[in-house]
Amino acid sequence: MDGNREHWGNKLGFILAAAGSAVGLGNIWKFPYITGENGGAAFIIIYLICILIIGLPVLIAEILLGRNSQLGPISTFRKLARKHKKLWIIAGGIFFFTGLVILSYYNVIAGWSLGYMVESIAGKISSFQTSADASVHFDALVKNPIWIISWQFAFVALGGIVVYFGVRNGIEKISKLLMPVFFVILIFLVIWGVSLEGAEKGLAFLFKPDWSTVSFKTVLMALGHAFFTLSVGMGVLLTYGSYLKKDDNVFFSGIMIALLDTLIAMLAGLAIFTSVFAMGFNPADGPGLVFNVLPAVFSQMPGGNIFSSLFFILLSIAALTSTISILEMLVSTLMDEFNMKRHSSVVLLSATIFILGIPSALSFGELGHISIFGLNWFDTMDYLSANILLPFGGMLVAVFVGWYLMKQDIMGELFHGVRNTDFNRGTSKVWYFLVKFVAPILIFLVFLSAIGVLK
Ligand code: PFF
Repeated sequence: MDGNREHWGNKLGFILAAAGSAVGLGNIWKFPYITGENGGAAFIIIYLICILIIGLPVLIAEILLGRNSQLGPISTFRKLARKHKKLWIIAGGIFFFTGLVILSYYNVIAGWSLGYMVESIAGKISSFQTSADASVHFDALVKNPIWIISWQFAFVALGGIVVYFGVRNGIEKISKLLMPVFFVILIFLVIWGVSLEGAEKGLAFLFKPDWSTVSFKTVLMALGHAFFTLSVGMGVLLTYGSYLKKDDNVFFSGIMIALLDTLIAMLAGLAIFTSVFAMGFNPADGPGLVFNVLPAVFSQMPGGNIFSSLFFILLSIAALTSTISILEMLVSTLMDEFNMKRHSSVVLLSATIFILGIPSALSFGELGHISIFGLNWFDTMDYLSANILLPFGGMLVAVFVGWYLMKQDIMGELFHGVRNTDFNRGTSKVWYFLVKFVAPILIFLVFLSAIGVLK
């Protein structure tokens, strides 16, 4: 199939699409919140180290695997594994399963963003006096099965339409269009947030290191979030890498993707906390911050409706460019493994994801009573994928590249598109060491923590 595989139109298209995958709900609500909870700047420093020594090396490894095989995850393992082929094919199957699980609940939150975007544009997010008022509004919406399932459906359909058009005409085009829009809106929100009176409290919250709150668990949190935010550990970047031609510098692209993702997480933190603190609100937890507190913050300010609309457009764009990347991984798996056509794969998978997501959508109302080890269905899907499946997948990639492939093969692949200079040879040795030893061991620790062994 190599000959007729689609490829990115150009390098920028690939970088924007991959950065679009990395930049998602994880950056805009999760990163600011966990940063705030884990000692601000102290957490950020640890998180940056994790990105550098684990996230980035595994990210590069994933892209390299895909570029080498020119195939989706399962087929890549089938083609490249010399030993334990069956086990590696199962590993590819785990990536596929992880994609289904993440998409099922991710589309639900993405649907909320889209719903809130439309509500904001219609002027309904501008009359809350307190975050409690905003919470009442939020609760009423998420308990309404029609509202929540309709928006979930709308979002699944939106992602499906983009992927239906293919890599170059769908994903690449939309990323080239939306990522710059995203960036401009974000910069605008940051400048506006930082210039508010009282913004310095938000800056202090975000950037004043508080080492006293740092524990081993904080380090593990930072590590776990590092590869969630980079989209590492389920073959998504492997799939995007499989649409690269050999002359692309994977080192440079990997660094750009990680840099953009980190920069955007920081900017989102700046925009959110400066406004939350300036308006005298307290940061609340996870999804609550974005959907309960921010609407109240927006209500207190002149032109709040405009900012609220911009913010939820931002959130929806971030979610869309991430969901299409996961859907594309699933689609390419069906195309490569079962010779299915793109169009029928997209329809089949979108329908499956929509149906699988319904229990998550209803977890805030009708199905709220369902409890699996104390978590509702939505939280179980989130916990299972983010804390168990992704760390496991990240470790698999590192082990495969570090221990199952021949060093000279992988180095040969790396040096397609990278100039063979002393500096590049030195950096690639460091990269190999990180992938072979450092990443698997540290990810293993995250995994232990996620299943509660180190709690
Ligand atoms: N990186 C995305 C975010 O930060 O929201 C989430 C994600 C996308 C995770 C794609 C994993 C993935 F394969």
